[in-house]
Amino acid sequence: MNIDKIKKEFPIFDEKIQNNDLVYLDSANSSQKPRVVIDRINEFYTKQFSNVGRSVHYLAVAATNLYENTRVSVQKFINAKDKNEIVFTKGATEALNLVANTLGQNYLQEGDEILITELEHHSNYVPWHFLRKSKNIKINFAEINEDGEITLEEIEKKITTKTKIISITHLSNVTGAILPIKEITELAHSKDIVVVVDGCQGAPHLKLDMQDLDCDFYAISCHKMYGPTGLGVLYGKKKWLEELPPYQGGGGMINEVKKDRISYGDLPNKYEAGTMATAQVIAFDQSIKFLESIGIDNLVKHEAELVEYGQELLQKNNSVKLIGNPKNKGGVLSFTIEGIHPHDVATILDEDGVAIRAGHHCCQILHDKLNIPASSRASVGIYNTKEDLDKLNDAINNCKKVFDLK
Ligand SMILES: Cc1ncc(COP(=O)(O)O)c(C=O)c1O
Repeated sequence: MNIDKIKKEFPIFDEKIQNNDLVYLDSANSSQKPRVVIDRINEFYTKQFSNVGRSVHYLAVAATNLYENTRVSVQKFINAKDKNEIVFTKGATEALNLVANTLGQNYLQEGDEILITELEHHSNYVPWHFLRKSKNIKINFAEINEDGEITLEEIEKKITTKTKIISITHLSNVTGAILPIKEITELAHSKDIVVVVDGCQGAPHLKLDMQDLDCDFYAISCHKMYGPTGLGVLYGKKKWLEELPPYQGGGGMINEVKKDRISYGDLPNKYEAGTMATAQVIAFDQSIKFLESIGIDNLVKHEAELVEYGQELLQKNNSVKLIGNPKNKGGVLSFTIEGIHPHDVATILDEDGVAIRAGHHCCQILHDKLNIPASSRASVGIYNTKEDLDKLNDAINNCKKVFDLK
């Protein structure tokens, strides 16, 4: 794979950022966008714009077809059985809220339990937390082991006769641990437990196959997949999406509206109320084509090499402590440097043009468990190279000098 050529497809790398070449190591937060995606948004607004699913004029019909084409592309990309199992949302956060809210209304009973993990992003905890009050639901936490992993055994240990839902991340945005979703789902289904997966970090970095994973729901964040912001995808098995109530009410999601009764539209309209992120959906088709042009197997291999290289570099660097050491790890390198606050690390690295993230990464439960208020996180994407990780390491060394550390 020619990464230099791939990198050239991202216009941001032609820019000088504070007089530096950009070393972008914040893709777990949001990825940069290839020109094809940026151009597609521009082209749609310039030459093809219309709202979708409403009017019958030429532009409206053409835009609706483009919008629906993306649904089919997503379906194929994640190997879902049916295109109506693909629902567009404004992000993975909304997708997870949709699932928690509708399962909360129709499926959960008072006293039921939900099993999540200590690795979860707030987007996969707070929506379930709402049900504690409204439904008297209990939330249990599967705990990480010393390598920052969640094992199948730990999940099995935490399942009780009251567990109705297991909601887990595919790939941790802090430790990089990849969870055994297929095995967890098999175990859960043998006990009639619904499986919800936060696939925000899984979708941009792993090969996805919904029929093989067999989970009931899978939430995707398009802006982490070289796609536009303001867009997410909820995959849900048809039987669930048909059975559950709508999440939001408004135009587009209804069948018939009378003064005394309302019936709802078929899938996927039932879950797509109001004007959707039309341009983003249409441009997301280009993100998928971009990913397919690289080949997911190539992407996975490239990122695995980067992580291994980065991990070795940082392990050798005095005072740097990597968070977690999972056997099966995605493209995330979180770390602390003894005596330097992660925000200072990120600020000083930024002066060298190295963009990382610092904070709790929306994972306060995990940081509490690790007894640290925050961490620094470097995360990779398809455009990164080993040289980027060398620059990260050099910038960390510069930072240590500022604080008189060896
Ligand atoms: C693991 C994880 N879950 C959920 C989210 C939220 O995704 P979105 O920005 O699409 O709402 C993120 C984004 O940071 C994430 O990393």
